[in-house]
Amino acid sequence: MTKLYSDDAELYDIAFDWDIEEEVDWLYEHLGRPASLLEPGCGSGRMLESFARRGVDAVGIDLSAPMLELARRRLGERAAVSLADMTDFDLGRTFEAAVSPINTLLHLTPEELAAHFGCMARHLEPGAAYLVQVGLIEPDSYDPFAGSHWEASRGDMKLRADWSDEEIDFERSVSRQRSRIEVLAGPRAGEVIEEIHDMTLWTPETWASAISSSPFREVATYDAGKKGERPLVDQSATGGLLWHQLVPAG
Ligand SMILES: C[S@@+](CC[C@H](N)C(=O)[O-])C[C@H]1O[C@@H](n2cnc3c(N)ncnc32)[C@H](O)[C@@H]1O
Repeated sequence: MTKLYSDDAELYDIAFDWDIEEEVDWLYEHLGRPASLLEPGCGSGRMLESFARRGVDAVGIDLSAPMLELARRRLGERAAVSLADMTDFDLGRTFEAAVSPINTLLHLTPEELAAHFGCMARHLEPGAAYLVQVGLIEPDSYDPFAGSHWEASRGDMKLRADWSDEEIDFERSVSRQRSRIEVLAGPRAGEVIEEIHDMTLWTPETWASAISSSPFREVATYDAGKKGERPLVDQSATGGLLWHQLVPAG
């Protein structure tokens, strides 16, 4: 597991703690105002907290104990998070909706994604929606990702985060990404945490094929590439911030 999700989970929590209220409003409506929701790979719980504030019974699982510790600190009594692998879990209950933001599913190989979808189908009620944010690219239109660069702070801690493509390999379906967090102020000032993440690369074709052999079907695709706008797009669309609305196929 990468340091950013384990030893340095606190830095992740600061770097990714931007305002998600408008996005969660949109998700809540598109999920049909669910009473219960599951977030696999919930990390430090920023989405769970926001859904819980809307009265949703929000439950998360993650493989990282430090991330879950931060989620428990953030959610207090409302924390319903547990250590589990999203490719093999059984919570003994079902949910009205599920969500997976910021390309979390790219951490899974195609085989792991198939196992994940199997688990998710067993945890969703008939008609429930699963909104997953997964970017799709293809060789003809691929424009090297200039990267995301931003600053974040909490208390006396200030940091700069950079996330960029290191290498894109269409033949092996691997997208190698580099994250760099530099602590600018606070007790850890001067530290730089740099890591490479090997993620699965999905094209519209490979993604459509993964969905068609899963227990889900994709009923809508939205492009969140422009801030504040999420137009409905064709399933052949490419982009780094596509939301795919999945429903159980049966
Ligand atoms: C990009 S972070 C997203 C966290 C959270 N969803 C958010 O929006 O802030 C990805 C998370 O997925 C978790 N993760 C990766 N592989 C996992 C797996 N197989 N099972 C459960 N969690 C996993 C990591 O520990 C990490 O917390």
